[in-house]
Amino acid sequence: MKVGIVGAGMVGSSAGFALALSGTATEIVLVDVNEKLAVAQAQDIAHATPFHSATKVSAGDYDALRGAGIVILAAGVNQKPGETRLALLERNAAVFRQVVASVLAAAPDAILLVAANPVDVMTDIAARISGLPPERVIGSGTILDTARFRSLIGRHLGISPQSVHAYVLGEHGDSEVLAWSNARAGSVSVDDFAAQIGRPIDETVRARIDDDVRNAAYRIIEGKGSTYYGIGGGLSRIVKAIVLDQHAILSVSIRTDRVEGVEHVTLSLPRVVGRAGVITTLHPELTPAERVALQRSAALLLDTASAVQV
Ligand code: LAC
Repeated sequence: MKVGIVGAGMVGSSAGFALALSGTATEIVLVDVNEKLAVAQAQDIAHATPFHSATKVSAGDYDALRGAGIVILAAGVNQKPGETRLALLERNAAVFRQVVASVLAAAPDAILLVAANPVDVMTDIAARISGLPPERVIGSGTILDTARFRSLIGRHLGISPQSVHAYVLGEHGDSEVLAWSNARAGSVSVDDFAAQIGRPIDETVRARIDDDVRNAAYRIIEGKGSTYYGIGGGLSRIVKAIVLDQHAILSVSIRTDRVEGVEHVTLSLPRVVGRAGVITTLHPELTPAERVALQRSAALLLDTASAVQV
C-alpha cells in the first residue's frame, strides 16, 4: 500500500522513518509546502530503508498522493515549551482547511490519519471538512499516552509493556483519563500482580505514573523543543493495523456518537482497527470517578471543537 505523509517536519518524517523500517508500506510519499525539506527528508529516510525493507520513499506534490490508501496529516505547528496542545488550534485549523481538500482531490479513497495537535479537535475538523465517514478519519489520539502508561506500569512490575493491557481515554492532553480500574498484567489486574510480587501500586506510585504520562510531552519539549519519535512510532503502529487488516485494539480518536452522555465528540477509546479503518469501538467498564473524568474530557473537547468553523 502507498502511504502519504503531509508535513515533512519532525513528526511526519519520524513516522515515515518508522514506517519505512517496518516494511509495512510498499511506498511512502512525503509532501510539504517546503519542497526542499520534503525531498531531503525522503532521501535521508530512503538511505536508511535498504537495511530493513524494500519500501520506496519519495517526495512530491499532492498529485503524488494518487493511489494512497492512507494519508498521514502531520502538517501544522507544534507546542512551544509550556504551551498546551489546545493553544495550537487556530493556526492548525487554518492549515487543515487547505490540506484536507488537496489530499482528497488526489486520494479520495484514502483513510486520513491525523497527527497534528490538538489531535482530537484536528481529527474532528478533518472529519467535518472531508465529509468522510468517521471510521475513515482517525486521530492518533491517546495511542502514545497508552504506550507511556503501559511502559511505566511494566517498568514498575518488571514485565514487558506488551504484556500490560491498559488504556488512556479521552483527550490526548491534560484532561486524559488513565483507566487504572481495568489495567491488566497478563490476565490479572495490575494491582493483584503488584501485590503478588510485593511491589504494590499505592497512591504514591499511581500519582507518579499519572504525572509521568500526563506531562511527558511537556518535559520532553522543555528538553529538546518537541516530541516526534514516540508519535512517529504510534502512527506507524496504526498504519500497520490498517495495511495488514489486523483488527488490533488501539486507543485512537474518531468522531463518536455518545460518550458518557456527550454526543458527537471526537476522542480516544479502545477501537478495533483494520483495513476499513475503525471497525468497532469498545466502551470499557469504568469506576464512577473515571466516568466523571471521561465525561469532563469529552465535554471539553466538544466545546472546543464546536467553536471552530470549518
Ligand atoms: C506528545 C505529542 C505528540 O504527546 O502530543 O508527545
